[in-house]
Amino acid sequence: MNSRALVVPRTEGETTRRRLREVGLLRTDLRVRNEGERLAFPLTEVGTVPAAWGEVSEREFRPVAAAGPREYRQLLDWPDAQRSALPRSFDVVGDVVLIRLPAELEPRRRDVGAALLRFVPGARVVGLDRGVKGTERRRDLERIAGDGGWTTRHRENGIELDVDLERAYFSPRLAHEHERVAAEVLRGETVADLCCGVGPFALAIARDGRASRVTAIDANPAAIELLRRTLSRVRFAARVEARAVALEEFLPAAPPCDRAILNLPLEGIKYLPSVAATVRPSGRVHYYELVPRSARERRGSEIVRSLGRAGSWELVEHHVVHPYSPRSDLVAFTLGRGPE
Ligand SMILES: C[S@@+](CC[C@H](N)C(=O)[O-])C[C@H]1O[C@@H](n2cnc3c(N)ncnc32)[C@H](O)[C@@H]1O
Repeated sequence: MNSRALVVPRTEGETTRRRLREVGLLRTDLRVRNEGERLAFPLTEVGTVPAAWGEVSEREFRPVAAAGPREYRQLLDWPDAQRSALPRSFDVVGDVVLIRLPAELEPRRRDVGAALLRFVPGARVVGLDRGVKGTERRRDLERIAGDGGWTTRHRENGIELDVDLERAYFSPRLAHEHERVAAEVLRGETVADLCCGVGPFALAIARDGRASRVTAIDANPAAIELLRRTLSRVRFAARVEARAVALEEFLPAAPPCDRAILNLPLEGIKYLPSVAATVRPSGRVHYYELVPRSARERRGSEIVRSLGRAGSWELVEHHVVHPYSPRSDLVAFTLGRGPE
């Protein structure tokens, strides 16, 4: 766009900008032109510029970029009905963006991917997330925009985690829970992080430095390899032992601990009594389960009853971590063993 301009030597750039601002002659909707040794400042239509300030002329200017959209959906030129069927939220893991789409919008997934790639600062690749599958809870992903694979580094609670979203479970939606459990650990405790994935609970606990030992196990060797990669970079690695082993093999000879974390929401209940049996008197278990909303209030006491012979247990608290489906939630239960 053409505008009246004040052209000055580059060395006078800052002085000129200040002078023009002070007298209200500088246009703020256009960008200053860089002409090598000279700069051209866009001027308002009216107002006299003292001759000593430089040469008044005419130039072509580029507009200042408008403020970006507040939602990625605004970048899609779709009919309103389709646009509002798109989810508002998505996940960001390192430089990877993950989105779930309703089946009817999957044919247009590449448009959605392109919009997210533009919208999220620093995004490298966008994956259509078809959920976690199998016992190892690996994510079913399809690249819909950008380049490269699913290996990245994700910063959570001040720790840079090595993550491979296709080979081992990780969800950024548990960040608060990882930090909450770490904050409960008391000085000198030994902690068992069972089904640790890439180790976000174990790492947050070790970072805080109160636990004397953290044992992190997972049946998926890829998860343990990623945890070891993170451990190789952090200064608190010495307190963590990472083992690729299944619960079935680990539990019969597990050393006693003061606190156990069992985050295996679909099948964890079948291991819970054996896990509870490894916890010392006055210890805690942080147990996670997908619970139908209608059963949430009674589920805690059912779980405590299921521990019948593994010491005297009580439900310390329970809370929803996040909704899981229209009718169920991921619920965290803190179970406390009596002093005995
Ligand atoms: C929901 S993920 C938990 C990840 C982790 N705790 C976190 O907060 O990110 C469940 C994990 O349990 C592991 N797993 C499944 N069955 C197992 C078993 N029988 N023994 C040990 N780990 C198992 C999976 O490989 C997966 O990494």
